[in-house]
Amino acid sequence: MRTYQLIYQSQAMVPFNAPALRALHRQAQAYNGTHGITGVLLHTADGRFLQLLEGAEAAVRHLYHNRIVRDPRHRDCHILAEGPCLEPSFAGWAMVLRFVRPNEVRDLLAHVPADNQALRVPRARTGPELAAALRGFIATGQAAPQAAQRA
Ligand SMILES: Cc1cc2nc3c(=O)[nH]c(=O)nc-3n(C[C@H](O)[C@H](O)[C@H](O)COP(=O)(O)O)c2cc1C
Repeated sequence: MRTYQLIYQSQAMVPFNAPALRALHRQAQAYNGTHGITGVLLHTADGRFLQLLEGAEAAVRHLYHNRIVRDPRHRDCHILAEGPCLEPSFAGWAMVLRFVRPNEVRDLLAHVPADNQALRVPRARTGPELAAALRGFIATGQAAPQAAQRA
């Protein structure tokens, strides 16, 4: 089965305190686990979400378009990248959840090419770069791009 990845960001409409986020996490783990979906969800205290979903294309697209986007607890869902990938970045993790600082999300999004957000059309390399940055962030806690990548 080819893996399909979708990465989006959104803004919370209601406060997500730790218990609310844990409940969302439990629900996501149960659903994602039974649908072969893995990924990561980052949340900041100012209500920003950044999530990577991966699995079979139909399952990932259904979850995003028919469930997540329709969830009234957040708005401004904006896909940063989507497409097939060589291998899953979060195999074995139905959904990793992390509370992060706003500057860590900013640093991760520095991996998205500058023209991406203006054009709203993700370039082919955005997905792999951002997925690798997210995986590296979860593994090491470092969100900032390397100096060489900033150049
Ligand atoms: C930021 C965010 C991320 C979410 N991620 C997932 C997810 O990965 N998997 C999932 O099943 N639901 C996720 N949800 C919840 C769904 O949007 C929705 O509430 C849920 O699927 C509805 O389930 P129900 O119809 O059984 O109540 C997420 C919600 C938000 C706000």
